Amino acid sequence: MPKAETMTNQFLANRPVVGAGKQPAGVTRRHFVAGTAGFAAAVLMPVPALAAGQRTYPLAAAPARAKLLAKAGAPETDIWAYGGRAPGPVVRARQGERLRIELANGLAQQTTLHCHGLRLPNAMDGVPGLTQAPVEPGGRFVYEFDLPDAGVFWYHPHIFATEQLERGLSGVIVVDEAEPILVDRDLIWLVDDWRIGDDGAIGGDFNHPHDVTHGGRIGNLVTVNGAELDTVDVRAGERLRLRLVNAANARVFALHFEGMAPRVIAHDGHPVEPYAPDGERIVFAPGQRVEVILDIPARPGERLQVRDDYYQRFAYTFVTFAVAPGAALRARPLAAPVALKPNPLPEPDAQAAAIHDIVIEGGAMGGLTEAVYKGERMGLRQLWREYGKVWTLNGVAAASMAEKPMFRLERGRSYRWRIRNQTVWDHPMHLHGHAFRVLSRNGKPVAGRPWADTVLLHADETVEIAFVADNPGKWLFHCHVLEHHHGGMGTVVEVG
Ligand code: C2O
Ligand code: CU
Repeated sequence: MPKAETMTNQFLANRPVVGAGKQPAGVTRRHFVAGTAGFAAAVLMPVPALAAGQRTYPLAAAPARAKLLAKAGAPETDIWAYGGRAPGPVVRARQGERLRIELANGLAQQTTLHCHGLRLPNAMDGVPGLTQAPVEPGGRFVYEFDLPDAGVFWYHPHIFATEQLERGLSGVIVVDEAEPILVDRDLIWLVDDWRIGDDGAIGGDFNHPHDVTHGGRIGNLVTVNGAELDTVDVRAGERLRLRLVNAANARVFALHFEGMAPRVIAHDGHPVEPYAPDGERIVFAPGQRVEVILDIPARPGERLQVRDDYYQRFAYTFVTFAVAPGAALRARPLAAPVALKPNPLPEPDAQAAAIHDIVIEGGAMGGLTEAVYKGERMGLRQLWREYGKVWTLNGVAAASMAEKPMFRLERGRSYRWRIRNQTVWDHPMHLHGHAFRVLSRNGKPVAGRPWADTVLLHADETVEIAFVADNPGKWLFHCHVLEHHHGGMGTVVEVG
């Protein structure tokens, strides 16, 4: 019985998934046997409560080795990791507590730590050149701040991100609600992909021109919590709380929980009125998190397949839930999940909001011909050839993360952004330091106007968001396809 289960939910999930299309041949499909902790409890259990106060997590980034390929005898992979494994430890605290993360840089290059989605003071945001100096090799930096919001967030470096994240530097932050909802099991799944060879080596072609100009670096190996995932043992009638984090450089996932009636309870950490997603399909792009309640159907012995069909030509089975034979966990199905208590977010005032337009342009097969770069107007060819930039926001390609602010926002004022994607590519756009409501897509209101910190724009889509600019400082707004950000797709807004 794997000991890991009783220690942490993070590694509950195990073994072989598949890389889209390019699944290594002959993968040994391993099977995860749940420990008694998962099964013994026929009563719904709350998350174990932590004592209130301050949480401290030392986080050392350094080279490490990992068994990413599950195939028997497959070589290990050289990775970069927090605390020796990828993903790094789950950083867990309770809403209202103070979190302290002590970063130590054991890499041979600079790094920083960004806590994605947390509403924290600007100086703790981890953006090099904008909110702090990069942490040098051998250096340290202490991040410390209060946690106003419950939910699922994540941490990752914010410098040389295309390489540092791809090599394994990321981890989950869970901020528990004061009154957690009742579930049988709480699964935290950091989903990632890797571009890896049969020799186990991560491809060194970071910022490859094709990736920068097209859809970003899509890997050929999909992992959950740093390992291939094949089968998860469940019990009929069991209620799972599944917390999904997309830590991939560029890959969007669309998990099709066929016949499982998933209910979404939160996006990007923030509760929504529980809803059944269209087609039982949950789409989440790089940077985004989704929380799902899954009630395992009472059909003992059945195998429930979850397919990822975002890239339809490369659809594959993401995971199989194997329902244990024998009696169901409970005689009667549970009542539908109730909404989590909302986080204390400032409500934007739609009437008084100032309106900003943001147009995304560039990339392969786009119509962009010229752009402004470091204050100079130039043709796209020159911009690409000389500076490796190919994307713009309102006509400007970012040279660094310390750009001149595109907008100055009045502190406490409501803003409404109309973001238009005039490219043929997907862009998950992420705003630092705030959460925003997603109001509409292509003019059509989005039900419930969910809160988010990262919103996915498909080709030719227009999305409207609204938020209160209540957090002073200079904040990034960028595409979370890391290669797109590298290629110029980012800007700064200043809340004064
Ligand atoms: Cu997940 Cu600018 O970051
Ligand atoms: Cu993008």
